[in-house]
Amino acid sequence: SSPGRRAWRAQLAHCIDDPAQVGGDAAFEYLPDGVIVTQGEYIEAVGPADRIIPELSPDIELHHLPEAIITPGFVDTHVHYSQLGMMGAYAGELLTWLEEAALPAEMAFADPVHARSIAEGFLDDLLANGTTTALVFPTVHPESVDAFFEAALHRNLRMITGKVLMDQNAPTGLMDTAAESERQTRDLIERWQGRGRLGYAVTPRFALTSSREQLAVAGRLLEAFPDVLLHTHLCENADEITAVAQAFPEYDDYLSVYRAHGLVGDRSVFAHSIHLNAADYQCLAHHDAAVAFCPMSNLALGSGLFDLRRATEHRLRIGLGTDIGAGNSLSQLRCVDEAHKVCKLQGQSLEPIQALYLMTLGGARALRLDQRIGSLTTGREADFVILDLEGTPALRHRSVPPRDISERLFTLFVLGDDRCVQQTVAGGVIVHNRPSASVS
Ligand code: GUN
Ligand code: ZN
Repeated sequence: SSPGRRAWRAQLAHCIDDPAQVGGDAAFEYLPDGVIVTQGEYIEAVGPADRIIPELSPDIELHHLPEAIITPGFVDTHVHYSQLGMMGAYAGELLTWLEEAALPAEMAFADPVHARSIAEGFLDDLLANGTTTALVFPTVHPESVDAFFEAALHRNLRMITGKVLMDQNAPTGLMDTAAESERQTRDLIERWQGRGRLGYAVTPRFALTSSREQLAVAGRLLEAFPDVLLHTHLCENADEITAVAQAFPEYDDYLSVYRAHGLVGDRSVFAHSIHLNAADYQCLAHHDAAVAFCPMSNLALGSGLFDLRRATEHRLRIGLGTDIGAGNSLSQLRCVDEAHKVCKLQGQSLEPIQALYLMTLGGARALRLDQRIGSLTTGREADFVILDLEGTPALRHRSVPPRDISERLFTLFVLGDDRCVQQTVAGGVIVHNRPSASVS
């Protein structure tokens, strides 16, 4: 059943462009007392309350939240739903962590009942954190893809996933073959791509777990299906990069392995992309590929520090990824807090408005969804989050008033978490209500 017309009145903050490229004044919009009107799945009108309220029919369902700030729904550009149950594992760096902690947990997704139950729990958690769109790793099992898409379709969410391709260097039970992965991916794309608000990503895990033959399959699939994304990992960890160089000695570097198989393009999303050389940055920029900055995971595994300044100078499309299970929270607030620290450690800054951009429109651009989501704009899908500016004790205790909206957002980002998420709206429907909140 299609929802009717509704209105939310609160502070509104969003980006309509990239502040790093066009400047904050041109990129950022803030309405201290604004209204969003939704009709069905879409945003019908946005503007200051003194203009919009008089135009509204008196019997409209109006949510008035003067202490809250509404932003676009958060976008998580790299996360493994299949690792929800192994978050917080104590293990070493990437390759041992994968072998000892992450991969064993993925075995259970051959069972559709298990997959469905984790998928539902994952979506509950995402929405409770204000994230309305994610680019998601499932497992090698087609059942894990069906389970996730079914759960997301049922909630009418804009979500992207795709069967993980891995035909070597993995435990038995987690491997396919090149031929099987091609057949299964084609079948899944035909059944899911474009259904509801779902999108498909061809998902070779990383260079180490795919044969040359399977990487070529991924390239052919991308060519055959012009609407699907490519989602994989790139240059996350020093030992990983050494292993890729040994496994693929005919190529100059890690990214060249992907490029030689047709995997570097304007629909590609490369998670991590930490240890890149000059040629890599140029190649990514030239092909208009996107990268997912995953600070929580990169710090937890000791992988390294993403170079935001350099990626920005090359005008790469950049999103944020929580990358659970290596990351330890599905909160985009926690994630951007860590992103800020990663920048600080390199003598860089992450301006609060830029942070908001990365969490919303930047992520949407990385996933090629910015014509549908990522900003509070008429005609966009009604995916947004109502944030309580006093949702945590630390925020409530802060007695120094923020100087401006930029500082207010910064404080929210570094002192906030899921307790600040009062409501999440997706497709015009309230899909999460904070349990203890009294919302009018
Ligand atoms: N590289 C290959 N697989 C993975 C994974 O599951 N997590 C992370 N962080 N990196 C990977
Ligand atoms: Zn990952």
